[in-house]
Amino acid sequence: MEHDPRPDVVRLGAIGLGRMGSLHAENLAGGARGIELVRVVDASEEAARGAGARLGVEWSADPRSVLDDPEIDGVVIATPTRTHVELVEQAADKGKHVFCEKPVSFDAESTERAISAARNAGVVLQVGFHRRFDPDWADATARIRAGELGEVRLFRSSLRDKTAPRAEFLAGSGGFYVDMTIHDLDTARWMVGEIDEVTAFGAALASPGIAELGDVDNALVVIRFENGALGVIDGSREAVYGYECSTEVMGSKATVRIAEHRRRHSEWLTPGAATSDWVEDFSERFPDAYRLELEAFAQAIRAGTEPEITGEDALAAFVLANACERSRREARTMRLAHERTATGVVYTEHP
Ligand SMILES: NC(=O)c1ccc[n+]([C@@H]2O[C@H](COP(=O)([O-])OP(=O)(O)OC[C@H]3O[C@@H](n4cnc5c(N)ncnc54)[C@H](O)[C@@H]3O)[C@@H](O)[C@H]2O)c1
Repeated sequence: MEHDPRPDVVRLGAIGLGRMGSLHAENLAGGARGIELVRVVDASEEAARGAGARLGVEWSADPRSVLDDPEIDGVVIATPTRTHVELVEQAADKGKHVFCEKPVSFDAESTERAISAARNAGVVLQVGFHRRFDPDWADATARIRAGELGEVRLFRSSLRDKTAPRAEFLAGSGGFYVDMTIHDLDTARWMVGEIDEVTAFGAALASPGIAELGDVDNALVVIRFENGALGVIDGSREAVYGYECSTEVMGSKATVRIAEHRRRHSEWLTPGAATSDWVEDFSERFPDAYRLELEAFAQAIRAGTEPEITGEDALAAFVLANACERSRREARTMRLAHERTATGVVYTEHP
C-alpha cells in the first residue's frame, strides 16, 4: 500500500485487536486526524486478517512486523495487560513511540521498567485514560481549574459495565480496582488533586467464579484528598440497565455533574411512564474521547512534547488502585505519601 506522503502524518501500527484494540484500529484507520494506520497485529491470525480486510490495511500475527518496520513511528498496544510491559520495552528499544492501554502492568516495579525504557529511548509513552479527553470531563476540569467551582468539597464517580466481560478477561484483569477503579482514581487526581487516604469495600455478587478468583464485582472507595476534600467512587461489573460512567464535583461556588448516557435526545412519554434510551458500553459513551486520545498521542510525537497522560500518571493511579485492593483485603484505611518529582508525582503506601 502507498504511504500517505504528508510529512506531518504519524504512521502507527496497532497491536491487539480485541474489545478495545478493534475500536482503536477503527479510529486509527478512519476518524483520527493526522494518523496513518500502516498495519494491524493480533496473535490470532483470524482477528488480524479480519481487521486488515475490514480496514484496508496490512495485517500480521507477529508484533515484530510493526516493531521492526522503519516506516512506522509508533504503536498502539491493546493486548492483555500481562503482555504490555514486554511490548513497551521492545517498542522503546526499536525507537517506536508507544500508546499503551491501562493498566500498564500488575505491579509497580514492571510499570517503572516500562516508564524507564520509554524515557531512556526518548520516545513518547501515553497511557489510555481516555476520560481526560472526553469533551465533558475536559471542559469541567478546565472550569474547575479556572476557579468557577470554588473550593472542592466532594467528588463522586461511578463506573458500571452493563454486563461483565468474559471469564477469561476477568481472570487476567488484575482485579476490580486495578482494572476498573483505576480510571476513577486517575479522574480524581486530575479533577481534584492528590490523594492522602483510600478505604475500599468490595463484594462478589454478580459474576460466577469471581469469588474463587479472590476478586469482587461491586465496589466502593472512600477518598480523603490532600486539599481536605472527600470523595466516593462506586463501581460494578454488572449494572444490568446499561453502561454508566458519571462524575460529580461539588464545590463552594458550584457543582458540576456529568451524567448523560442517552444515544438520542428524545424521550418517549407513554401512559404512566417516560423512557429514553441508554448506552450499552464504553465504545458508545466515549466515541470522541477514544479518537481524541489517539490524536493527542500523534500530536505529542509530532511536537516532541510530553503526552498529556504520562507513564508516571499511570503508575500513580496503579499504586492507588493497588492500595484499594489491600484496603479491601485487610479491612483497613490505606494512607499514601506522594512526592513531586521532575517527571510527575510518585506515590508510596505508608507502612
Ligand atoms: N481504556 C478503556 O476504556 C479500556 C476498555 C477495555 C479494555 N481496556 C484495556 O485494553 C487491554 C485489552 O483489553 P480487551 O478487553 O480489548 O482484551 P481482549 O481479550 O478483548 O483483546 C486482546 C487481544 O489481544 C490479542 N493478543 C494477546 N496477546 C497478544 C500478543 N502478544 N500480541 C498481539 N496480540 C495479542 C488477543 O488475541 C486479543 O484479540 C487491557 O489492558 C484492558 O485493561 C481498556
